[in-house]
Amino acid sequence: MNNLEYLLRPVTVRSLEIPNRAVMPPMGTCLGNTDGTVSDANIAYLKRRAHGGAGLIISEIISVHPDGHESPTSLGGYDDRFLPGLARMAETVHVCGNKAVMQIHHAGRESMYQLERGAAMAPSPVASYIFGKKPREMSKSDIQDVVAAFGATADRAVRAGFDAVEIHGAHGYLLTQFLSGHSNRRTDEYGGGFRNRARFILEVIEEVRMRAGNAVPVMLRLSIEESIQNGYSAEDMQGIVSDFVAAGVDVIHASFGTHGSPAGITIAPAEYEPGFNAVLARKIKSVVDVPVIAVGRFTDPFLANQVIARGDADMVAFGRQHLADPDFLKNAVEGHPERTTVCLACNQGCIERLMFEGKRIRCAINPETGQELVYPSKKVRHGRSVWVIGAGPGGLTAAYEAARLGHRVTLFEKENAVGGQIRYASRAPYKSGYEEWIRALAEKAERAGVAVRLGTNVTEDMIMSRDGSADAVIIATGGVKIIPRIDGIDMPHVCNAWEILSGHIAPRNNSFIIGGGLVGMETADFMQSRGIKNVVVIEQLPVSPVPPYTSHGYMLHGRLKKAGYEILLNTKVKAIKTDSVLFVEGGRRFRDEPASQVIIATGLTSSDTLKTFMDENNITSFIVGDAKEPRRIIEATEEGARAAWNIQ
Ligand SMILES: Cc1cc2nc3c(=O)[nH]c(=O)nc-3n(C[C@H](O)[C@H](O)[C@H](O)COP(=O)(O)OP(=O)(O)OC[C@H]3O[C@@H](n4cnc5c(N)ncnc54)[C@H](O)[C@@H]3O)c2cc1C
Ligand SMILES: Cc1cc2nc3c(=O)[nH]c(=O)nc-3n(C[C@H](O)[C@H](O)[C@H](O)COP(=O)(O)O)c2cc1C
Repeated sequence: MNNLEYLLRPVTVRSLEIPNRAVMPPMGTCLGNTDGTVSDANIAYLKRRAHGGAGLIISEIISVHPDGHESPTSLGGYDDRFLPGLARMAETVHVCGNKAVMQIHHAGRESMYQLERGAAMAPSPVASYIFGKKPREMSKSDIQDVVAAFGATADRAVRAGFDAVEIHGAHGYLLTQFLSGHSNRRTDEYGGGFRNRARFILEVIEEVRMRAGNAVPVMLRLSIEESIQNGYSAEDMQGIVSDFVAAGVDVIHASFGTHGSPAGITIAPAEYEPGFNAVLARKIKSVVDVPVIAVGRFTDPFLANQVIARGDADMVAFGRQHLADPDFLKNAVEGHPERTTVCLACNQGCIERLMFEGKRIRCAINPETGQELVYPSKKVRHGRSVWVIGAGPGGLTAAYEAARLGHRVTLFEKENAVGGQIRYASRAPYKSGYEEWIRALAEKAERAGVAVRLGTNVTEDMIMSRDGSADAVIIATGGVKIIPRIDGIDMPHVCNAWEILSGHIAPRNNSFIIGGGLVGMETADFMQSRGIKNVVVIEQLPVSPVPPYTSHGYMLHGRLKKAGYEILLNTKVKAIKTDSVLFVEGGRRFRDEPASQVIIATGLTSSDTLKTFMDENNITSFIVGDAKEPRRIIEATEEGARAAWNIQ
């Protein structure tokens, strides 16, 4: 046996034999059709993940009731018209030899879609944490309807061919709304003490158990801790969980947090250690005899194996890792874990894209995710000679994708190292994973046959002298730093953020950072992590460009506040002087404050001169990433991949 012995051991629940203990937990994708039916995109996405080999694949949320449907593109299970699509989902998982679980769900008050339609209901008319609007209070007959709806959907799950059902009792949705003293203010038998508040969940379990039939495992996903101030605790949950088991639950899926938990801890940012939540699974395991699933920042099958080996949990769920690289388990089993693209927990293409941008699922570091239907998998018939200029995220992704498709690729980078802006981004606290990602991507590109030429600045002359040697050129040269026109910008104590992050210039106490975007804020974070005192970040916009409602933004703002750093919004610098900075705060208040160092972080602008040159000389070319328009990793990787896919 290899050292994945525990993770790869089969487990039997009721009569269901699960081939191994790796789980894909439920993840909403918004890939569904707008009538709530399963789309081809759902199936293609699921198929790619099922190929990864996790023994248990849990579907994304499937609504039990039209008024509990989270969004128009989340999937429905409350009518027989959904059955054909759901059956395709189960079949897709079975073809790969894995077991399919349907997660059944009601959003309660935590759906903007339902709140706006006026259909949102909850135990009490208490406003949603994140949407700020009030649902209506459920009557006893609403409660009976919803309990019955859970049962009817469980029955449909079985008829569609799913091997098990998972009741979504976590993350602040309807079942948690009953359990939580914050959202449940009822005075009837469904409200009051914790035990009464758990009554609704018990009724749902009993109904689902009955309708699913004896042979089918019923799983329950719970937030073991509510993770909000005065929320329920793991000890509260320990006191009730055996009642859930007695009511018919066969597996507890030990998640955590609710809507409104700080930093979106349910889908935790990189500040949280891989597997940090296994401790909660252990607490539940100590009070029940059924299998318990641990979840939370797992990316490494070997760590998951240890968690099972030491008895913290029986199974381990890998969520976002299935988005970043669904082959992670296969790679580990085959002895090549280094080939895995490890999830950065950036949330950029997954949860924050779904929640804050209202878009379908993607992954910042895996351009295949969510695009499986258009992702080319076959090599091209005639490989072309391709030049890629710039080895940042955009160029590296383009180079790898082009080589994977059978093109002959040369990647030029003017610096002596690959990575582009990531070489600086990864210097900020909790971002070392970004550097590892870039290193792994460069290795992957080289394994695919990309010839990498470091220290080579591609110029117009170079292109003309080698004209004809490249059939297509991908320009991924990144943005150009903006140097603001401020009096005193050339003084010796003025530098830029990149010089601080790279270690070329030592940060000083009593500094000003001009520019409060991600680069400025992360430079401040880098400085606080090195004990630098008295830093002021000046931003001209009235709101922070790093939104504190994102997981990373929340943590970042928190760290800077704790360090005592000042973030001044709606503020403009007028002049940099020998030992002070003159600025106008809030459009009115002039301040002249002492400064020993001034750091410029006023962003980048696009650089399309090479593109213009290519067009003028009729050379087929594509411009991608920050060179086109300074944005984020996800745009650079997506555009890089698409350029490679479009080479004829
Ligand atoms: C401190 C910091 C933190 C950041 N944090 C995040 C984050 O958390 N999330 C996020 O999404 N984004 C973040 N970003 C932004 C992100 O890094 C960029 O959006 C991304 O790197 C853009 O990728 P790119 O490939 O388009 O360009 P770049 O990364 O800029 O790469 C361009 C490359 O081209 C090379 N090059 C330029 N001209 C030539 C030439 N003529 N010949 C050869 N080579 C050339 C450059 O040397 C460079 O290596 C951060 C940026 C910084 C600086
Ligand atoms: C895009 C996305 C959608 C999610 N949707 C669901 C869902 O439908 N039901 C659910 O119980 N959890 C959902 N989750 C939470 C995950 O199942 C998992 O608990 C969480 O991502 C933490 O695991 P990880 O750190 O391995 O990603 C979702 C997570 C993501 C990233």
